[in-house]
Amino acid sequence: MKLKQLVALITTGVGLMAAAQAQTVLKIGYATSPQSHYGVGSTVFCDEVEKGTQGRYKCQHFPSSALGGEREMIEAVQLGTQDIVNTSTGPLGNFVPEVRIVDIPFLFRDYDHARKVMDGPIGQDLLQKMAARGLIGLAWTENGFRHMTNSKRPIVQANDASGLKMRTMENKVHMDGYKTFGILPTPMPFPELFTALQQGTVDGQENPIPVILASKFSQVQRHLSLTGHVYSPAVIILSPAVWNKLSAADKQVFVEAAKKGAVAQRKKVNDDENNGIAQLKSEGMQVVEKVDGESFRKAVAPAYAQFAREFGADKIAAIQAVR
Ligand code: PAF
Repeated sequence: MKLKQLVALITTGVGLMAAAQAQTVLKIGYATSPQSHYGVGSTVFCDEVEKGTQGRYKCQHFPSSALGGEREMIEAVQLGTQDIVNTSTGPLGNFVPEVRIVDIPFLFRDYDHARKVMDGPIGQDLLQKMAARGLIGLAWTENGFRHMTNSKRPIVQANDASGLKMRTMENKVHMDGYKTFGILPTPMPFPELFTALQQGTVDGQENPIPVILASKFSQVQRHLSLTGHVYSPAVIILSPAVWNKLSAADKQVFVEAAKKGAVAQRKKVNDDENNGIAQLKSEGMQVVEKVDGESFRKAVAPAYAQFAREFGADKIAAIQAVR
């Protein structure tokens, strides 16, 4: 080997060793599988972080609730014992009360409306509010519009849901809304849900199509109704313990990476919405596609007076007015 080649080899080797030594591995957790919408969004986010920081930061993934339920993961990110969580807003309002407003049932007309609000000034303002509660919101990703499943009967109108014991997220806004449909809400962390459905501890649950698919709920639930009764936003949150150590340039890389993760996650939600219902039918679910949405909106209307007192009628109207 020529001297020049030897020097090049040694320099590369030293460079690689230095890079390996300087690498920080960040723990990211989410509720569903690596192939699900959360897995897809988190993978794109992490790949972009790794690329944008020339490998100085990379992720170790903890999918399928391996680090616990969403409430536990948010708490761990706040404490700095977990670095990143890609989570729904379900339990987030318990940490950042201002975000509760986006959990109001029938607040958003459709995906286009919801994404515009979350990416616009209202959503960005909520993202900023997280810092004061020890959480760095990087970008809104997405869980999706939630639909009801149960083991008892088809739900066509609000009355059909009356009396059903349904698992809900640990979210007071959801629970207050669902009570108006006559549902008996049973808050429970997601990791306990499959067994609760299997054992009949609850009759049903509500979640977006990507979650129903990824969690194989067709094995334990006969009926699916496309109620779309509430939008479920999600968000990539970073621990301040990590954020505060980042240079300004790296902070920008993390934020841009989260935005790319959000695009990928939302695309997976779209794909699952488009293809997943046929799959769930083929797995034996009875699907009510034409739900009487008006009956649900009428039922929940009285709760809007309470939501207006809690969040401000003007703030609710501002969200509804986004076109
Ligand atoms: O139902 C829930 O708790 C959430 O929708 C889930 C499945 C954890 C995803 O955010």
